[in-house]
Amino acid sequence: MAMRLTVLGGDGVGPEVTAAALRVLGGLVEIARTDALIGGAAIDAVGDPLPDATVQACLGADAVFLGAVGGPRWDRAPRRPEEGLLGLRRALGVFANLRPARSLGLPTPLRREVAMGADVLIVRDLAGGVYFGEPRGLGEHEAFDTWRQTAAQTRAVARVAFAAARKRRRRVTSVDKANVLASSKLWRRVVEEVSREFADVALEHRYVDAMAYELLRDPLRFDVVLADNLFGDILSDEAGALVGSLGVLPSASLGPGPTLYEPVHGSAPDIAGRGIANPAGAILTIAMLLDQTSERPELATAVELAVRAALSEQPTADLGGRATTTQFTDAVLRHLDRAVAVPG
Ligand code: NAD
Ligand code: IPM
Ligand code: MN
Repeated sequence: MAMRLTVLGGDGVGPEVTAAALRVLGGLVEIARTDALIGGAAIDAVGDPLPDATVQACLGADAVFLGAVGGPRWDRAPRRPEEGLLGLRRALGVFANLRPARSLGLPTPLRREVAMGADVLIVRDLAGGVYFGEPRGLGEHEAFDTWRQTAAQTRAVARVAFAAARKRRRRVTSVDKANVLASSKLWRRVVEEVSREFADVALEHRYVDAMAYELLRDPLRFDVVLADNLFGDILSDEAGALVGSLGVLPSASLGPGPTLYEPVHGSAPDIAGRGIANPAGAILTIAMLLDQTSERPELATAVELAVRAALSEQPTADLGGRATTTQFTDAVLRHLDRAVAVPG
């Protein structure tokens, strides 16, 4: 049966990398595709960054693929595109964001012997933290947010991290700021409780400042990195530098319903519309979808290998190369054609 996929291209390079990713997916499995509006594109069309029709189209799908939202055009608008993404995460109830950052043999700002072979899975809480806490307020002379973390939120995302570690190198590094924040004190206590359910997985704690430092100093020592909503957001962009570019990082967000797949990067307004965005993150996100939603791990591996080959052969500008989005995607498809018999 065809997989029902709701596609949200969004803004900036979002539609560009989404088109590339869907070319790859469409050649591998049968999909029934529905397109819907989100972010700035939805504000422009209907005045709402997350129209109800979009939520319904996502809830009724087997999986959702999102490009990116946001851009300077809407920075001063009464509603922001980012509200659409946060609202969608809430509506889908996605609570654990898997952001793998694996060395792809690319040049990075770090010395080769430091970064080569890095393989980190950031598991980010998507339900709690300062993103959603109430009350919040913005006045002329004062503004405030509420950083609220429940034990239940922490337990749920921690279990995902420990279960993932079991299939990897059995090590979880939990990131917090328990030397200052009350929410982090609770986080640390609950993570320790959950770790007792996973006696075969080693747990260590790091304050987020030291973690940001060590992730670049000695990345090879990390396996699964468990972090709250804000810390996980920051560390995952940092992990982009670790593997060469933010443009190559994929992600999947898990909840009770359809999984939300999106590259880690944003709408990249500085390069949008020029056809030069790196679609590797979006295409590797398709590999996660093939593995997790289609349950076709062999196709996921074939896509990963094709992306690796294309990256070394025809890198895009963010990696110092000259390939356009289309040329890079053509190279991925060429390598895939060689590796798998394409249906039809
Ligand atoms: P960004 O991730 O869009 O870009 C940061 C830098 O990385 C830029 O120099 C950009 O050119 C580069 N980059 C990002 N993706 C790339 C790609 N695929 N290929 C080549 N280079 C790439 O972050 P930003 O500039 O801080 O944010 C721009 C907008 O995107 C903001 O409105 C922000 O809120 C939004 N945003 C959205 C998402 C999302 O939709 N998931 C994620 C992050 C940021
Ligand atoms: C991300 C983005 C979003 C986040 C923004 C656009 C709301 O930075 O997906 O990493 O902070 O979660
Ligand atoms: Mn981010």
